[in-house]
Amino acid sequence: MSKTEEIKTLFNEYVMPTYSPKLVLEKGRGTKVWDTDGKVYLDFTAGISVNNVGHCHPRVVDAIQRQAADLMHVSNHHYTENQARLAWRLSRLSLDGKVFFCNSGAEANEGLIKLARLWGHESEKFEVISMTGSFHGRTLATLAATGQEKVQEGFEPMPEGFYPADFNDLDCVRAMITDNTVAVLVEAIQGEGGVVPAEEAFFKGIRELCDEHNLLMLCDEVQCGMGRTGSWFGYQAYGVTPDAISVAKALGSGYPIGAVVAGPKLADVFSPGKHASTFGGNPLACAAGLATLDVIEDEDLVAKASRSGAKFQAALEELVGRYEHVSGVRGRGLMLGLVLDQDAVEVTDCLRDMGLLTLPTAGNVIRLLPPLNVKDGELEEAIEMIDEALEIWHDDLNAAAEAVAEAAGTLAEALVEDTAEGGGESDEAIEEEAEEAVGVTDED
Ligand SMILES: Cc1ncc(COP(=O)(O)O)c(C=O)c1O
Repeated sequence: MSKTEEIKTLFNEYVMPTYSPKLVLEKGRGTKVWDTDGKVYLDFTAGISVNNVGHCHPRVVDAIQRQAADLMHVSNHHYTENQARLAWRLSRLSLDGKVFFCNSGAEANEGLIKLARLWGHESEKFEVISMTGSFHGRTLATLAATGQEKVQEGFEPMPEGFYPADFNDLDCVRAMITDNTVAVLVEAIQGEGGVVPAEEAFFKGIRELCDEHNLLMLCDEVQCGMGRTGSWFGYQAYGVTPDAISVAKALGSGYPIGAVVAGPKLADVFSPGKHASTFGGNPLACAAGLATLDVIEDEDLVAKASRSGAKFQAALEELVGRYEHVSGVRGRGLMLGLVLDQDAVEVTDCLRDMGLLTLPTAGNVIRLLPPLNVKDGELEEAIEMIDEALEIWHDDLNAAAEAVAEAAGTLAEALVEDTAEGGGESDEAIEEEAEEAVGVTDED
């Protein structure tokens, strides 16, 4: 048995099947990853917006190795230098307030929700208006905040107090405000929802509504933060300031870390005992975070995401004009979605076989999230592969359409003959034959 087969067998037997992995990956450098058979791929998923500085950036690796040799973990009952410094830097880059550290995006959003509820507690405000199409995590509260019923199915009853309003519909948000509403939770660009940016008037309008009704504006920056969209955080493109944001994914370049960053209004709402996390902000995670910020700053990756994103977007838009079943490009910076008029999996599977990792999302969108320091040549290589995969896909679609037309013709002829002969095969039998002819089976 090959190493690849051995790992897959063990994995499938002992790891709960919450994903359907295909490749066994064992090494990464920059934009590239290698599988156990030595095949190289361009990773245009960046581990779902985690490897913003590329895989195994030497400065992040070095910071983790050095910190691991000194002090990996002590409890939060003690001060540690890295946590203090990372909190200071995150705060300066965003809301000029205070930070709570945790370990993941869902946990950061839980923190955000708890912070809002505590702030509104005395006035009995606890309801959170979230958005349809949003994604906030897989814990129960963040699942309830997530505006996609399919991820909630089977886990009901959902915790109460979460109400999804239609994304990009300010009137809908306004209509959902009650005396118990405490906050509006929104992503600047919905990643899992299909790379859908918030419209400017909508995002600004939320801030105004929050000010008008004394509500908190909370932004989930887990996927669109850390430079990905061409600003440090997605909200900054709109010129509005939320009351608090959640950050995770790219903050540790792959070392798990999450954070709630609150502006001055919420900076001192949590008091000792009100919220906690054993690992949150430990010296190792914060060393990864500090090194990540250093790399993004020193390599000017926020501006680079904007420049490379514009180039990449223009090249993708050319493909839209060339292929009938490609309907558009959405997003900002290096958070882009190529929108198809049908399911994207066939194309993303084909791209993987060709050596380009992408993410199908919201059914018909190919999500493209390369590292922010992706090279121009890699962007060009990716465009060539996408072009080729779209061509193969269109050929397949045309062949399938021709086969269906041919089968329909045969079916019609058979029906005419059948009627003339006054009986014979049933319509169902003829239909089955036609479907067989184009390769449609019950399993499809
Ligand atoms: C916008 C957003 N929020 C929260 C999460 C949850 O993050 P995690 O998987 O680290 O819990 C994700 C994950 O994809 C996300 O995209």
